[in-house]
Amino acid sequence: MKGIVLAGGLGKRLAPLTTITNKHLLPVYDRPMIYHPIETLHRAGIKDILVVVGPDNAGDFMRLLGNGTQFGLRRLDYAYQEKELGIAHAIGLAEPWVDGEKMCVFLGDNILEKGINREVSLFRRQKRGAHILLKEVPHAKNYGVAEMAGVNIKKIVEKPKRPRSSYAVVGVYFYDRSVFRIIKGLKPSRRGELEVTDVNNAYIKKRQLAYSIIDGFWADCGASIDAYLSAQNLMARAHELQRVRRRRR
Ligand code: DAU
Repeated sequence: MKGIVLAGGLGKRLAPLTTITNKHLLPVYDRPMIYHPIETLHRAGIKDILVVVGPDNAGDFMRLLGNGTQFGLRRLDYAYQEKELGIAHAIGLAEPWVDGEKMCVFLGDNILEKGINREVSLFRRQKRGAHILLKEVPHAKNYGVAEMAGVNIKKIVEKPKRPRSSYAVVGVYFYDRSVFRIIKGLKPSRRGELEVTDVNNAYIKKRQLAYSIIDGFWADCGASIDAYLSAQNLMARAHELQRVRRRRR
């Protein structure tokens, strides 16, 4: 399975912190934001990672991440998204690199406390289709929201004004190779982007979308300055707990 970390986009919601640097290069507690998804993928056994960067600070990503040996990766490659044309557009750039394998797409501003080891092994066993992660949150309207029909997801609505559930779609997606065919058939949304929510809805139509509800904290650091701050506090607390546990051993 291959890993794709998306680090394009402008990060306008974190301005002025992002006026002269890219959101994914900002610190989250003791390391740059983009380290978190890369390390989470590596811990789950994914050793080939593609980082999609945009025009802003493209060279800084290379200076920071190099060829990935510092993370213990086999390969760290880069794709260049010329314009912010949407998450699904950024995924589409990975087609030649993925070379028919399954993939885990990780939004570069997402952090998961508990990692993705369980979901990676579930998806390795899934024959075809996609697998997404859901998390119950108090303010679901800031995210893609899963509308449920019993235990099945009926559809996903991107940032609905009145969410029909409190299940937000986390920015970690598992896809098989058919994702590229789906992306080629997408039309830009009203905001001019190819939406990942449309990709997931296409899998729902094919009855090929599985999901897990995750434990532990999930941070979308790019959602707002408060989300960014709480991600840092949560990481600081997680590190403190680790230190206490180590001392007790
Ligand atoms: O974090 C989870 C949410 O992420 C989901 O619940 C939503 O359904 C999904 O649309 C997405 O919403 P955001 O508003 O948070 O997406 P954002 O524009 O912040 O982009 C997320 C990441 O993807 C960010 O790290 C940058 C990258 N990106 C984004 C765009 C639009 C790209 O690499 N290229 C792009 O063109």
